[in-house]
Amino acid sequence: MTGLLSGRGLVKRYGDAYALAGVDIDIAAGEVLAIVGPSGSGKTSLLHVLAGILKADQGVITLGGQRVDQLNETKRSELRRTEFGFVFQSGMLVAELTAEENVALPLLLGGRDRNMAVSTARDWLGRVGLGGKEMRRPGELSGGEAQRVAIARSIAHRPKVIFADEPTGALDTRTGHATVNTLIGAAHETGAALIIVTHDRDIAAMVPRVVAIRDGRIETPVAAA
Ligand SMILES: Nc1ncnc2c1ncn2[C@@H]1O[C@H](COP(=O)(O)OP(=O)(O)O)[C@@H](O)[C@H]1O
Ligand SMILES: [Mg+2]
Repeated sequence: MTGLLSGRGLVKRYGDAYALAGVDIDIAAGEVLAIVGPSGSGKTSLLHVLAGILKADQGVITLGGQRVDQLNETKRSELRRTEFGFVFQSGMLVAELTAEENVALPLLLGGRDRNMAVSTARDWLGRVGLGGKEMRRPGELSGGEAQRVAIARSIAHRPKVIFADEPTGALDTRTGHATVNTLIGAAHETGAALIIVTHDRDIAAMVPRVVAIRDGRIETPVAAA
């Protein structure tokens, strides 16, 4: 197997239906790619299987050459917390916490001391353009600002891979593009690989590699004309 994160023969079934019908994929360290496909094609299933949120029914997943598909739930949850970062469609921020606390929380849960967690959170909020808004709660931020908090939170612990599932789904086109640029910039800064699931071809056009999925299978890449 090659690459930082690799999947071979990934199958995920719901009853008789195949959400993933045998997917092979390799993601290199620091690589930025988009996974595109129509609604119901298996994008989220693939992301969740690769990230260890869901267990595949069949297939092998390796991270840095080590098998991770057979880890138990405790180990998978540790892997998600330490090696991976996540950005979802609509923030999933804790409404009661400030922007700074939202970003610091995973660092605190990861055992970082409070001063360190808070200064790292402030630093990342500044880098994603939210300097001065650290004390706002999610309800006091625009959709695009909330997604930037989510980006800061996904990357502050310096994960190897960031998984973003439709991160622009709740945003207007312009804000969506700015959000993806912020995400790509953050990944480049830390050397993290970035996997963006989107059904927006314009977003896909912003990244160097696009993987198309349909009916739970990777479509053969069409050679450029
Ligand atoms: N929890 C679930 N229970 C039953 N079927 C599901 C579940 N999650 C996804 N599916 C089905 O699996 C297929 C792929 O879904 P999904 O991975 O969410 O696709 P996408 O993210 O591309 O829209 C769809 O047919 C969907 O209905
Ligand atoms: Mg989805």
